[in-house]
Amino acid sequence: MVINKKVNNFGSCLLMKSGAASVTATTTMRNYHTTNSNKKVVPFLLADIGEGITKVEVVKWFIKEGDHIEQFQNVAEVMSDKANVEISSRFDGVVKRLCYNVGDIANVGAPLIEIEVADSTASPSSAGAATSSSSTVEVAKTTSTPSCAASSDIAEESFGKILTTPAVRRIARENNLDLTKVPATGRNGRVLKEDVLSYLENPTKQQSEKVAVPEQTSTATTTTSTPSTPTVGDRREPVRGLMRTMIRTMNAATKVPHFGYKDEVYVDNLMIIRSHLKKTAERQGVKLSYMPFIIKAVSLALKEYPILNSSLTEDESEIIYKGDHNIGVAMDTPNGLLVPNIKSVQNKSILEIAAELNRLQELGKQGKLGANDLKGGTFTLSNIGTIGGTYADPVLSIPEVCIGAIGMIKKTATFDAHNNVVPKHIMYMSWAADHRVVDGATMARFSNLWKEYLENPDNFIVALK
Ligand code: COA
Repeated sequence: MVINKKVNNFGSCLLMKSGAASVTATTTMRNYHTTNSNKKVVPFLLADIGEGITKVEVVKWFIKEGDHIEQFQNVAEVMSDKANVEISSRFDGVVKRLCYNVGDIANVGAPLIEIEVADSTASPSSAGAATSSSSTVEVAKTTSTPSCAASSDIAEESFGKILTTPAVRRIARENNLDLTKVPATGRNGRVLKEDVLSYLENPTKQQSEKVAVPEQTSTATTTTSTPSTPTVGDRREPVRGLMRTMIRTMNAATKVPHFGYKDEVYVDNLMIIRSHLKKTAERQGVKLSYMPFIIKAVSLALKEYPILNSSLTEDESEIIYKGDHNIGVAMDTPNGLLVPNIKSVQNKSILEIAAELNRLQELGKQGKLGANDLKGGTFTLSNIGTIGGTYADPVLSIPEVCIGAIGMIKKTATFDAHNNVVPKHIMYMSWAADHRVVDGATMARFSNLWKEYLENPDNFIVALK
């Protein structure tokens, strides 16, 4: 599954929340055409997958043309900006056509595949029955028979920077051609098949014509490249999937005034206690890193400073103090950055937190984090120190009011009271808070208390119930 990301290293922390789900896609078929007396080819429409999603990217086909497929068999995995979804068939039949290539954008409600089904299966009445029995998705309806070609057209009309059809994209791909270089002659700048063929025939001529346009028409003083006139070697890609979510959430976050606070934590004692407990945890099948201690210390400090576990209502008239400490953990997964959260940390032991973190990490690796794990966070931590870095400027995960970024633990020379050099392990911590509701003094007091637990882990014993 998906969720991806990326992070401009340590300068800012881009947080995404997403979910994975499996749904059964159903389709209502009308006006299909007949291939022989008892078989009909019908479009299998991409069903509504909820949450207002209108477009998805085709990530993977589980079938190919000519395959015989059965009810409930997965046909495709698609990715929206919120989730990866497996689409399964409700009908037995033979796949006549896949309407998209992997990587194409598919429109909800448009045909995903064309499938040959038994006449009786394809009847509107049986499709209607399938619809009503589906508990997970709403059925896409159509009164005419959109074909693969139509769906391609719809999808490409409205998505991505390069307006063209999958068929044209396929030709470009097959010829290793960057479509941004092809002068478009179609309506609204659409790249037509003829454009591509003529470019392939004479790329030099086409390129010089394309680059020459701004010089002839522009009165601007500069002739340097603009987004609409890419230079040779530039590459354009439509923004897709999680990156769209990242753009939306980060734009929202930057409207909130952030307050930053950074400190250093001596973690030698924590390292000792972790190494002892690691073996105990291992015997219980749990991998114990520093995070469970850091997370628990956050929860203990939140008890004293609940404002940091709150959110401000959209109209800024009320503060909601959250009852649970659902601590989000930014996770670098193969599909990108995800932020699942550990629920009710205030009621969990360090080992329970570790077990839950292990579970979330495993799901993240497999691309199977579910909506429940990704929703409901009240506070976020980002341990970028597993990758590198010292300090960060984390960006809030709205509507939360606080986030912490952990830098890499480093052995550092310090001075003791007699000016002797003493090596110590330091963990660098960078907090950011919503300055509309959190002031600097509160942030600093919270951080001091959190740090106290980590520098003197014996305190956990006293604090825990
Ligand atoms: N400094 C040094 N070592 C660290 C460390 C740090 N800050 N944090 C963790 N480590 C160590 C761990 O102790 C572990 O060592 P071990 O094998 O001896 O136990 C090792 O690095 C790997 O830890 P990991 O398996 O990643 O577990 P974790 O609980 O520390 O971290 C995640 C879990 C999910 C936070 C982490 O895997 C991750 O994805 N980090 C990246 C977050 C990110 O991308 N943030 C950017 C957001 S914009």
